[in-house]
This record gives sequence, C-alpha cells and structure tokens, in this order.
Amino acid sequence: MTLAEARARHARLVAEIRAHDHAYYVEARPTISDREYDRLFQELLDLERQFPELVTPDSPSQRVGGAPLEGFRRVQHRIPMLSLEKLRPADHPTRAEEPDEARRKQRQDQNTLRELLNWDLNLRKLLHRERLEYVMEPKVDGVSISVHYEKGRFVLGVTRGDGTAGDDITANLRTIRSIPLVLEVRNPPAYLEVRGEAYMAQADFEKLNRQLEQAGEEPFPNARNATAGTLKLLDPRLVAQRPLRAVFYGLGLCEGIQFRTHAEVLESLRRFGLPTQPYWWLCRDVEHLLEIYRREVVADYDEERDLRRRLPYEIDGIVIKVNDLSLWPRIPAKARAPGYAIVHKPIHWIEPAETVLKGITVQVGRTGVLTPVAELEPVFVQGSTISRATLHNEDEIRRKDIRIGDTVVIRKAGMVIPEVVEVVKSKRPPDARPFDLYAHVGGRCPACGGPIAKEKVATGEGEEVAWRCQNIAGCPAQKIRRLEFFTQRKALDIEGIGGIVAEKLVERKLVDEPLDLFDLDLETLARLNLGTEEAPRVFGEKNARKVLEALERARTLPLARWLFALAIPNVGEVTAHDIAAFHPDLESVAESPLLRGVVRLDEAWAEAEALNPNSRKNPPRTEAERRHRAEKFEALRAEVEKIGRELMAAGFARPAARSEGPLPAYVTKVGPVAARSVLEYFASPLGRRVLQRLRALGIRPKGSTPGRAGTGPLAGKTFVLTGTLSAWTREEAAERIRQAGGHVASSVSKNTDYVVAGENPGSKLDKARALGVPVLNEAEFRRLLEEAGAASSPARGGSAQPELF
Ligand code: IVH
Repeated sequence: MTLAEARARHARLVAEIRAHDHAYYVEARPTISDREYDRLFQELLDLERQFPELVTPDSPSQRVGGAPLEGFRRVQHRIPMLSLEKLRPADHPTRAEEPDEARRKQRQDQNTLRELLNWDLNLRKLLHRERLEYVMEPKVDGVSISVHYEKGRFVLGVTRGDGTAGDDITANLRTIRSIPLVLEVRNPPAYLEVRGEAYMAQADFEKLNRQLEQAGEEPFPNARNATAGTLKLLDPRLVAQRPLRAVFYGLGLCEGIQFRTHAEVLESLRRFGLPTQPYWWLCRDVEHLLEIYRREVVADYDEERDLRRRLPYEIDGIVIKVNDLSLWPRIPAKARAPGYAIVHKPIHWIEPAETVLKGITVQVGRTGVLTPVAELEPVFVQGSTISRATLHNEDEIRRKDIRIGDTVVIRKAGMVIPEVVEVVKSKRPPDARPFDLYAHVGGRCPACGGPIAKEKVATGEGEEVAWRCQNIAGCPAQKIRRLEFFTQRKALDIEGIGGIVAEKLVERKLVDEPLDLFDLDLETLARLNLGTEEAPRVFGEKNARKVLEALERARTLPLARWLFALAIPNVGEVTAHDIAAFHPDLESVAESPLLRGVVRLDEAWAEAEALNPNSRKNPPRTEAERRHRAEKFEALRAEVEKIGRELMAAGFARPAARSEGPLPAYVTKVGPVAARSVLEYFASPLGRRVLQRLRALGIRPKGSTPGRAGTGPLAGKTFVLTGTLSAWTREEAAERIRQAGGHVASSVSKNTDYVVAGENPGSKLDKARALGVPVLNEAEFRRLLEEAGAASSPARGGSAQPELF
C-alpha cells in the first residue's frame, strides 16, 4: 500500500468511525454491530502503526488516551462559568394540614412556581415587553465542562473549577466518544466554546461499580461522583475505559458565528454533531411554559410518568432561559449567576430521607413563641447533611404523633427548612412517649429561664395556641430573632445581618435591641468575630460597609415597613399597612386616638353586653339591679355610639353589616387585638425606648394622613382571604381590594362581607360557612374585582393574570 492509498483508506475509516460514534453516542441509534465497529477500529490502528504520519489529534485512535500527565494545567475562562439562581420557594413552608401527600407537594410546588410569575413579570417590566419567550430544559446533574473548537477542531477541554479558571482536561475529554473531535459543519466558526455536562448513565455507573468492587476497589457513592472522580484522573487511558458521556446546553466564547436565540443555539449545536438534550421546549410566554411544565415535566405530578424517567442521565431541576439572546446583556446578573436564567426543582423530585429523631429542642421565636425542633441522626439528603428539622408546633407533633426515638421521614425543600413528613410507625421503639412541651422545658423558657404561658398567637395561617416566654425585653433568643426579623427583606432589608451575624451581635453585646444597629461603626462591625476565640473569623470591611449603606437607606423607608419591622405582637404586614395609612408618623401611632378608640369601643361593647339588663343568659336578679344595670348599659351604649361615630368620621370604621341587638356594632380598619397590642407596645418600657431612640437617631418614618373612607367601588366592604389563589399572592389580592376601597381583615367574623376561598382553604372557610358569610371562589372574586375595575393593578401592566394550573 502506498502512502497515498493509505491516506485515502485512513480518511474513509475515520469518517466511518466518526459516523458510527455519532450514531451510537449522540443519537443513541447504533448503526453497526460492536464486532463490526471493533474491526474498523482495529484496521485504523494497524494502518496508523504502519504509517505513523497519518496520526492526527482528531483521529478516533486518540480516544484511547495518551500518556499520563504530571498534573493539570490551569486555564482561565475567558467568559466565567457561573451558577444558576434558584427560584425562591414561598416564604412559609406549607403546613402539614393537607392530609393527601401528593396534593400537599403539588401545592408547595405551586407556591414556588408563583415566584416564576414574579420573575417573568419583573423581566417584562425591565425589558418593556408584553411577553417573553422562554426555553425550558432539564438541568443535568453531571460535572460542568467547557469544550473549545478552533476552526471546527477540538482543541481544549476545561473543568469549571472555581468558575473563573479550571483544569485543562483536554486529554481526558478526548476519550469521551460523544464529544466530536471535529465539528460536522462545512464552514466551521473561527472559534466555538461549548458548555455542558459530563455524566455517566445510571446503568453504566452501576456496571462500573460492580467492576470496581470485583477488583477490590472502592465503589463510587453516585454517578456524579464517579464522573468527577474520573475526570480528575491523570491517566487518560484509564479515563478511556470509563463510560463517560457528555451533553451540551450553551456557549462560551464564540468568534465568526452569531445566534439570535437560545433555541437556535441548541439546534445548531445538534447540527454540528454535538450531543444536546433530547427534551427542551420553546415557550411562547410564561403561561405556555407552565402548561408545558405541568404536562411534560411533572406529568401532572405523576411520578411514574415524569420527565426524569425519560432521560438517560440524572437531572436535578428545570432551567428556564430567556430565548432572545439580544436581551441577555440587558438583564442584570446576580453575584454569581446570570439574570437571564433561573432553575426550579419540582418539590417531589426532592427525595425524602429516613432518619432517627434523637430528641426535640425548643427554640424561642421573636415574640417569645416556643417552637419545637427535631434533632435528627445526621442524614445526607440532596447534597448536604441534615441534622435538624422544624416541627412547627405542639399540635403538629400531636397530629403526626411524633415521638422521640421514632424513625421519621424528612424532606429538604429548596431553601425551606427541612421538615418531618411522617413517622415510620413500624420502627417505633416500645418505650417512646408522646411529647409534652411544657414538661420538656421544665416550665421555663429554654433560652432565658423566664416564665412561660400558653397564649393565643397569630400566625400566617390564622391563630393558634402556643407556649410563650414572658420575658420579652430580657430574653436573648428573642433579641436575636427580633434582630433577624428587623433586618429581613420585607422589613428594613438589611442584607448580611441574618443567622450567625445576628447571633454574634447579641452575644457580644453589640446589639441589645435592633435599633442598636444604628450605633455600630464600620470598625466594630468589620471586626465582629463570627467564629470562636480559638478560630476567629471576622465579618470584614466589605460586608460591614454594605450593612452600613443598607442602614442608611432604611432610615427613609415608609412607616408601614418600620411598623412591621418592630415585631409588635399581632402586627403583620397587612396590619402595619393599615395603620400606616391612617397615621403620619410613629409618634401618632403610639398615641393614636384611632387605636385607643378601637380598644375602648371593644371594651365598652363587652362591658355593655355583660350588663345588658335584657340579657337572657344573665338576667338581673332584682329590680334594683335591673335599674342599676340599665343605667350603666345606657351610658355604655352612648359611649359605643360616640366612639363609633368618631371612628367612622375618620374613615377608620364602618357600621357592621349584620349587627343585631340594642348595641350598634362597627367594623374597624384594625381589629381590637392588634390595636391593643400596638398601644401596649408603645406604652411598655421597650416601646417607649424605641420611640426615644428613633427620635435621637433622627429617624422619622412617614405614613399617610388619614384618608377618607367611602371612596372606591368596594368601599366599606371587608374581605378575608383564605387558601391559595392561582393568579395572585395574598398580598397582591389584598392590594387590589384596598385599591378598590375595600378592607382586608385577617379573621372571619359576622362583620365580614366576603370570604375569598382559594385552593386548600383553611378553617376560615368553615367559620364563614358557620356564620353565613358569603364565600367567593377565585373566579367570582375576580369578577367582582373586574366589576370594580380593580382586577389588574398598574404593577402588572394591566395584563390579565395567568392561571397557574
Ligand atoms: S445554563 C449559569 N443549562 O448547572 C450559566 N446549566 O448551577 C448558564 N447545568 O454549572 C448555565 N444543566 O453546568 C445551564 N441545561 C442547563 C444545565 C446547566 C446543568 C449546570 C451548569 C452550571 C450549573 C449551574
């Protein structure tokens, strides 16, 4: 054979082997038998041995691996390899009230997906678009790689490393047969960097582990680990024997080629012979995306049919990307993640794990409420070790019959704290006793040793009875929680003061109450030791500076945010908002004649009712008593009426729709429980100190001067919201009601005009039914708002709201 003949034969063999590799590794459609393939490959090797000048770096023979390396060369990524931002799950973990586990998961997932609507909305506002196209694709749970082609030839392969620089693993990646050594394109771009994931298919991974075990070697814990471990091997010949594959989802640096959309990128990569994902979806808009998500990804929450079962590799989420590439540079990035993409993990893809409940500790919340926390035998779930989970409250423990020593099923859902799903009753030790919180803490606050009492407390979902530490001003745990509460996003939004920082600030006596933050200077804050005496770890100047800037911004936040931030018992966001709408500043809230009126009205009403001479329950026993009671009753009735009139004149009350009996009844903007709580707070030493400090600090949050009642189509109507609405969050729905002049209350009484019941309504619905209060479903509520012209708010750009499901 002449060299010319050999060259021609070699070229044909190379082309043939490449085509078979592509069919087998990329298309997963083998075109010849293994024996036939091996024969071709052997012929190629023989030919190259005879004519060494035919060997090129992109010959298939090079797939078997070259000489071992001393170490990896470090390579700078010209475009950094970033992470993906997670869709933030709903703020409240879903309570375990929904008995049907599948529905509960669905509801929790929907809560998170609602954030997707927000994400889309914000992008549309930012980009001034009516709708945005998205590509939805699986997030591959492999090892990130970057592969470079110069004029269509594979020249460099790099690990992600720290995102800015990685290891040169060209020799190792060359052995992965699904990565083409030459791109299948007639006019290859001058430079094309593609990014993707290396992985091992589950079956291949299991086989590898069996081989390792047989050879007396340590098996890998999972496919991802096996992939990462293999890519780190310095001997490419060993790598060549491992069943690695790759799949690509995007671009890095490109020259001499341009794309308009992400969908076009995916299609082009596929055309170039690069393996891309078999499933991805181009979505017209966010509604279309949700529709596809439900149908294709979670298959209507049927775990048997969901996407994970259809792919050869593990996936750990769904990535959603803005399709139009020209918009990407206009979307601000996060610290280490781009703004144009987001990842979501469906809740039921989060594997539950089983472990033993070693004990229950009790945490003290910002208002002193004692919350039981499960102390678990550490267990590895979803990439991290979990040793604690929330148990919500004593009732929850009772309902799920959770006992110390039990084997429990736990689940970690995104950023939400892990929770105990259920008990494995069959594994219960014989001596496990039901849990009694009071006895467990010896009748004292576990943080400060102060007295505790059982009280009604307001929660996001209504009221519940809980144990509460009574040492409000002195309890260190409460101080820490109040500080965290004060700085959270919905309050004063001081990023960087959460968890450990708050704890150390209180522990080191730098902050006793949240306002002490304003006395901190840069140096003290920068030097704050977050570690221990032996192993110090300081907060640092950069972080400290950020905190000081955020504090500066907080000074001018509106009254509603400040009222909320102060963590006054029974004052949530809604109440804070309502109070701020009627008071110009904090001082006037503290002295509020309106709130005093509400409290006095409530007292006078109760007194009058108790004295009512015509009471059937408690009739007067003598004529003298009757006369005496009648006199007092009349005085109280007059007082009730007077206060009612005053509150109405201020727009702070309206006559109750269903008032019966001789006493006039009113519905007030803020209920008596909250009103009392606010006044008590500002009358307490703590509240007085807060006012004085704010004055000294020159902080004067501004509210509104009392508005006039009786305007807007829903004026005078009181609504209570329960359950989840598909189109709006509660706060959004409440805002629309307020815009139309209506009022939103947090609990149902006979003065409620409407209860709006969404999916999975709570006990408020039962109460509404018991009291005969009209109940609206979401469609009816929407119609009512539409009639009132308030269905869309300016914030949503006036567009109709998508239905989630
Ligand atoms: S897009 C941020 N799409 O996930 C840069 N990444 O947390 C754009 N990943 O290390 C990434 N599948 O390697 C994107 N379909 C996919 C992905 C994906 C897996 C990896 C990626 C990155 C990590 C981000």
